[in-house]
Amino acid sequence: MARKKVTIVGAGNVGATCAHWIVSKDLADVVLVDVVEGLAQGKALDLAQSAPVMGFDVKLVGSTSYEATADSDVVVITAGVPRRKDPATGKYPSRDELVKTNQGIVGEVTRQVAKYSPNSILVVVSNPLDAMCHVAYHESGFPSERVIGQAGALDTARYKTFIAMELGVSVSDIHGIVLGGHGDTMVPLPRHTSVAGIPVRELMAEDRLQAIIQRTRNGGGEIVGLIGVSAWYAPAAGTVEMVEAILKDQKRVIPSAVLLKGQYGYNDLYIGVPVVIGANGAERIIEMELNDEEKGMLEVSAKAVRDVVSILGY
Ligand code: LAC
Repeated sequence: MARKKVTIVGAGNVGATCAHWIVSKDLADVVLVDVVEGLAQGKALDLAQSAPVMGFDVKLVGSTSYEATADSDVVVITAGVPRRKDPATGKYPSRDELVKTNQGIVGEVTRQVAKYSPNSILVVVSNPLDAMCHVAYHESGFPSERVIGQAGALDTARYKTFIAMELGVSVSDIHGIVLGGHGDTMVPLPRHTSVAGIPVRELMAEDRLQAIIQRTRNGGGEIVGLIGVSAWYAPAAGTVEMVEAILKDQKRVIPSAVLLKGQYGYNDLYIGVPVVIGANGAERIIEMELNDEEKGMLEVSAKAVRDVVSILGY
């Protein structure tokens, strides 16, 4: 079997950490790309030099140009301006305020990667996530099955982590799902959350559960507040979970941002729903039965995503 190849665009914290975990798991050769001269080359070289110690055996290349990315199986797009404190005002931009700047960056990146890897699957990580999926979809011309957004994997991981912390049980035994856009309106689903199959509401008081739901919605902001810049370990972990599912054709069910074509009552909108992820990308969208309250929360989230998408002008 030919070796798999993954390109990661953006050698910042998220991109570099994706590279770290992809090579640690021996999943594929990795090409790290960044516009900043030396950044991708340096991080790729540094990571490559850890191979003799860590015992992985894949190739790592860093580059400022896209030639090296040719014929990638998967391309992870992390490029864009992150949420950083403005030194002048001391304020953080919201994810949505980044939309225009990152549309330009993600648009250009997508055109380049689509040219060199026309058969690849794009995993979009840049914020505002759901809107950037629209950018990658439009600019690549790829079928929507091959343009998928990473958000639900991260949001669900945060949700599970908080539940495990609250109950003092292993994270491995928490099952749950978070739908909707990657923003403050995301939709954690307590009715579909269990601890080794036991409904979470049998184990936790409602006010504690609601506090965890709020904390999950603010999960990105909590980290920004602590570090001053957005998170990278959990975002990269969620991304690598999706990349692995694609490379190994695992048919994992991972909540991901995909283009809805009538499912859940939405058309032409990228938003997070459960998706079967395999070698062909977003192979199947699973339509859950939502109750009226859950539908209402998804509608609020969909409206928030549409408001940002409308700024793009497609
Ligand atoms: C977060 C940012 C990366 O949720 O969106 O941490």
